[in-house]
Amino acid sequence: MPEPKNDVQTRAVAQGIRLDALPQHIACIMDGNGRWATARGEHRLVGHQQGYLTLKDVLTTADELGIRYLTVYGFSAENWRRPGEEVNGLMDLIAAAASAELTGLIKNNVRVRISGRLDELPQSTRDNLRALEAETKDNTGITFVLAVNYGGRQEILDAARAVAEAGEPWTEESISKHLYTPEIPEPDLMVRTAGELRWSNFLIWQAAYAELYVTDSPWPEFGEEELFAAVTQFQRRIRKFGGLAEG
Ligand code: IPE
Ligand code: IPE
Ligand code: MG
Repeated sequence: MPEPKNDVQTRAVAQGIRLDALPQHIACIMDGNGRWATARGEHRLVGHQQGYLTLKDVLTTADELGIRYLTVYGFSAENWRRPGEEVNGLMDLIAAAASAELTGLIKNNVRVRISGRLDELPQSTRDNLRALEAETKDNTGITFVLAVNYGGRQEILDAARAVAEAGEPWTEESISKHLYTPEIPEPDLMVRTAGELRWSNFLIWQAAYAELYVTDSPWPEFGEEELFAAVTQFQRRIRKFGGLAEG
């Protein structure tokens, strides 16, 4: 068993988490920002702002715990259906956050990847996200994937078009190769906050065998304790991938 390297790992081990059996890639459906805000009599955008602060903490904690990849659902291809005020607020928040976090992400050796149809985003949002990717591309720490204007069906469709254009054979490998972030291993743990029991079009190809963990806590209340609970659950699961349990 590896020795804890920092306070997060020390606390994780104290709770029975095995550092040699961590999920490699955690994906989060960060849901419940709106309900969290509404329950406090606040505007929904206050919830998204709080969700951003939560995300910063979760990224740091996941990194210190030893997670190698963290993917989060920031804005879905279907979220354009929301009122213009909320959509604009989210686009502004993403653009501002991308610019504000750049220095810190570089300092912390975080590699950022953006997943989704970037070309449909407002220019400032798109430019700031692309800059984040470009400036952190050689970093060697945790890989943080932000899904923006992301839809799983759209991603599969885009990949299929690329396979057809390249005249490649129709195999799982060729589709996987043309997904938005082909170099990232598939998530082994998928977390959804705010209690909804559905995928909402997130990583429907890559998460075929991900373990699912759902908590009733809304995203703004997700923290180290919840992350540890998800990892603990993950470590109790028996993964069979269609086969039979070993031993
Ligand atoms: C998730 O929170 C964040 C985004 C979809 C951008 P919601 O905004 O969906 O929050 P609820 O589900 O309405 O509470
Ligand atoms: C999924 O949450 C999208 C994000 C978290 C960005 P939604 O709130 O959009 O999902 P539904 O509408 O409840 O399925
Ligand atoms: Mg929601």
